[in-house]
Amino acid sequence: MSLKGRKILLGISSSIAAYKSALLIRLLIKQGAEVQVLMTPASHSFIGPLTLATLSKRPVLTDFVEGNQGQWNNHVELGLWADAMIIAPASANTIACMSNGICNNLLLATYLSARCKVFIAPAMDLDMYTHFSTVKNLNTLQENGVHLIDVNDGELASGLIGKGRMAEPDQLVSELESYFASDLKPLKGKKAVVTAGPTYEYLDPVRFIGNASSGKMGYAIAEQLIALGAEVTVVSGPVSLNHQLPNNSIKKITSAKELFDVTTKEFENADIAVCAAAVADYTPTHTNTQKIKKSDELLNIELVKTPDTLKTLGENKTIKQIVVGFALETDNELENARQKLERKHCDMLVMNTLNDEGAGFNSETNKITLIFPGNKIQTFPLKHKKLVAADICHAIVELINTKK
Ligand code: CTP
Repeated sequence: MSLKGRKILLGISSSIAAYKSALLIRLLIKQGAEVQVLMTPASHSFIGPLTLATLSKRPVLTDFVEGNQGQWNNHVELGLWADAMIIAPASANTIACMSNGICNNLLLATYLSARCKVFIAPAMDLDMYTHFSTVKNLNTLQENGVHLIDVNDGELASGLIGKGRMAEPDQLVSELESYFASDLKPLKGKKAVVTAGPTYEYLDPVRFIGNASSGKMGYAIAEQLIALGAEVTVVSGPVSLNHQLPNNSIKKITSAKELFDVTTKEFENADIAVCAAAVADYTPTHTNTQKIKKSDELLNIELVKTPDTLKTLGENKTIKQIVVGFALETDNELENARQKLERKHCDMLVMNTLNDEGAGFNSETNKITLIFPGNKIQTFPLKHKKLVAADICHAIVELINTKK
């Protein structure tokens, strides 16, 4: 295992354990990693930036602005640059700030901007570590995907004996190594197609039948699948989203028929399909080439059913392929969703209901129930759509593992 070419942000906050950072940098550099050190201002009292800059072969960054020439350390760029961020030592104060979104220094602002996996190695005195507020903050961070490298037991700088010693540098390196090892990318080598957003069924050049789907859920799932190692194609209806997907992974479509054609083709070479798009069930039999003029007559529009992509994928999947559908139900939710799962031959159905506040179209949050064949169900509380995506993808990984 090696960290060759991995870009690591090392955040150092204020603790006596900062003396171990020098050795940590040496080990990381020896493994071939690129290391960018970020320090909190107070941590300078514990170890000198010159030592760390020399070992990491890069200037150490502490402030948003360097010197008086207007040189700006861009925390967003730093956050995007990294493959992983490790905050070691993480002091009680830095942990509290991280868990509460406080960003009054460059290290914290970079943490808030980081899209990569974040590790924390706390170091503090025994009572600070077991204080209810620290325990709560560490729980919050872990619930939100931060990986805790727990403290060791032993003699502390205060003379007390107990939990609080930062993990040793070789432990920290081996945690990073196992993160980058392929078993933490459980979907490596797998291909997935995800449908997202609404479809538009045009009546004339300017009017269409559509819906209010934002595409957030589908895009969040695609991002999560990529993070788990999958190669992903998103078949996307018209959306306007800030997303983190490479442009070449998105295939834009407008109508349900286009969504069907592109998705069924993509699925031929895929292992996983997630149909998160809100597809129009009906489309006009005829699209006027000119704008429909208003008149005093009744306007009748004839509609015909669109092809059902999810159902087609479900009916034609091989035993190795997984098909996941969505259902937005308004009444008799569980029973309707169970029937949909069966009718469309899905391996898993993600149900949300308009009856749950904060769930559904155009919101940042969602509350889901996962339904599997054989009456197995899993319920989740209301969460941000990114965390919901993580739950869905976790279940997908488990399904994929059953196909091995
Ligand atoms: N879906 C699809 N193609 C369609 C319609 C729906 O792929 N033409 C997919 C959606 O992406 C979603 C699932 O089917 O994953 C749920 O569709 P929904 O419209 O809610 O269910 P219907 O089967 O249309 O049933 P009903 O409208 O009666 O609830």
